[in-house]
Amino acid sequence: MKKPMRYTVSARMYDAISFEWPVYRAGRATAIELLALRRGSHVLDIGCGTGLNFSLLQQQIGPSGSITGVDVSAQMLAQARRRATDAGWSNVTLIEADATTVDAAELGDERRFDAAISTYALSLMPAWRSALNTMISATRTGGDVAVVDMRTPTGAAAVWTPLARLACRLGGSDIDAHPWTTVPRQLAQVRSASVRGGHIQVRVGSVPPDSDTVPERDTTFDSSR
Ligand SMILES: C[S@@+](CC[C@H](N)C(=O)[O-])C[C@H]1O[C@@H](n2cnc3c(N)ncnc32)[C@H](O)[C@@H]1O
Repeated sequence: MKKPMRYTVSARMYDAISFEWPVYRAGRATAIELLALRRGSHVLDIGCGTGLNFSLLQQQIGPSGSITGVDVSAQMLAQARRRATDAGWSNVTLIEADATTVDAAELGDERRFDAAISTYALSLMPAWRSALNTMISATRTGGDVAVVDMRTPTGAAAVWTPLARLACRLGGSDIDAHPWTTVPRQLAQVRSASVRGGHIQVRVGSVPPDSDTVPERDTTFDSSR
């Protein structure tokens, strides 16, 4: 798979230029609050980038838990590694892999995670259904999976649509991908949140005993949801 250039050359600047505090922090904070992880939980972070989810996750899981971050960009992972080292977290494992094709064995034992999360990353992957299927199949029954991603703002916030589209284009995301649309079919007890004028969509659901996988060519979903 061709690696997205913007997440190789600009990895060092990512945290500074990603509108984290004014916009995107709210989405990850909402999702992690909804996850409400127990101490000692093991969490998979798909498309983890520089590890901006890590400190919020660490506050819940503590040192007896663990984070496994997967990203296709070695440069983004280098920043995530630096973050973990600086914070003294010895419970972070980083894997360089394409989340849409990663071999489940690379992630460890089947269903070994208590939770999986992906923030602002699935919309960069044309084959996001495969990555979401992997998140679900790597998580134990009853564990939680969180998807945080972007769409055009709605209501009064729709005036920000050109800016939202520009930000997504610059970041290489497909703002119309809506990678949360299969969540109601694949997960149970789905909790939803919409933040920043609807630009950020959050879905968190539990893995049922017989969770469904959705094929890449699935067309049975209304992606406008
Ligand atoms: C917009 S950044 C988000 C990073 C992080 N999740 C966050 O919330 O800040 C998207 C990340 O997805 C990664 N990515 C894109 N395609 C990927 C793929 N197929 N497999 C794994 N990671 C991928 C990029 O390298 C980048 O680090």
